[in-house]
Amino acid sequence: MARLSEHGIRLSSMSPSFLNSNSTSHTWPFSAVAELIDNASDPGVCAKQIWIDVVKISDELCLTFTDNGSGMTPNKLHKMLSFGFTEKGSGKASQNAIGLYGNGFKSGSMRLGRDALIFTKNGGCQTVGLLSQTYLQNIKAQAVIVPIVPFNQQTNILFKREGYSEASLAAILEHSIIKSQEEILTHFDSIPSKKGTKILIWNIRRAKDGKTEIDFDSDSSDFRLPEIHLEELKQGLRNSGTLRPEQNIPDMYYSLRAYLSILYLKPRTQVILRGKKVLAKLVSKSLTHIEHDVYKPQFSVSFCHLLIFSS
Ligand SMILES: Nc1ncnc2c1ncn2[C@@H]1O[C@H](COP(=O)(O)OP(=O)(O)OP(=O)(O)O)[C@@H](O)[C@H]1O
Ligand SMILES: [Mg+2]
Repeated sequence: MARLSEHGIRLSSMSPSFLNSNSTSHTWPFSAVAELIDNASDPGVCAKQIWIDVVKISDELCLTFTDNGSGMTPNKLHKMLSFGFTEKGSGKASQNAIGLYGNGFKSGSMRLGRDALIFTKNGGCQTVGLLSQTYLQNIKAQAVIVPIVPFNQQTNILFKREGYSEASLAAILEHSIIKSQEEILTHFDSIPSKKGTKILIWNIRRAKDGKTEIDFDSDSSDFRLPEIHLEELKQGLRNSGTLRPEQNIPDMYYSLRAYLSILYLKPRTQVILRGKKVLAKLVSKSLTHIEHDVYKPQFSVSFCHLLIFSS
């Protein structure tokens, strides 16, 4: 039956195919990774560390992003798995927030793989949620639905509340990479602090030749883009005039470790990639000429911004 608003008017719904369309805004996988790190370091979450790894579960390669930030309540997790909801636009902390649109998690995670599980603990409650193109396809869903299951953090007993039913648990166990309630609890336990979030992404994107688009093998402490992508990239950068013919592609384009080392002007969260800390390079300190400018946008309270020019 069609769901109606409180005005008795039909609610809009979202086609499962939108999950893929929406992810195409990321033409490069590393910008999708950045979305997940932004979320961990944003005000309100404030993770001190985020661990990025690639692991095998039931013989399938999975990406994991584990942070020790604030974690989420079941309602917050539902907003995370919905579109356009963000609380970062108001209040003092919003000045330092990277997130703005309530879309980065969806576009970023679905760019990296077809399916994601989110395990989150916020003190008192631990909740798992599923955003999965495979699940929606398996059940021939007409609209995006997101199974969410909360457990009591002390007793591990399922919280039964409206919208968080045993049907959600059954859907996760039948259609995700996790096959038992015990496994779910093991993932909560692998978050190293009382609060925090772990994102598990599988069915990771592959090229036409069947190989994963990210190369996990040639450097065991990095995620790299394979040579074949680099040629395409080089051509694109040369055509756009970003790269001169005699120049090589800077390593930040193909090494996630190099990219993350310069991603933030003021890093707030330590990134640990495959067990090894990413050393942040302060770009402003490595430039030959630095010029300060004052940026005063008309549309909001004035604040200063640092513009840096390199020669
Ligand atoms: N690792 C995390 N820990 C706790 N809360 C999170 C985490 N990741 C996302 N969230 C919550 O989910 C919400 C939605 O995240 P999403 O990235 O989709 O949007 P956003 O960060 O608000 O905006 P943007 O689209 O600009 O990234 C966030 O506003 C935040 O409340
Ligand atoms: Mg975000």
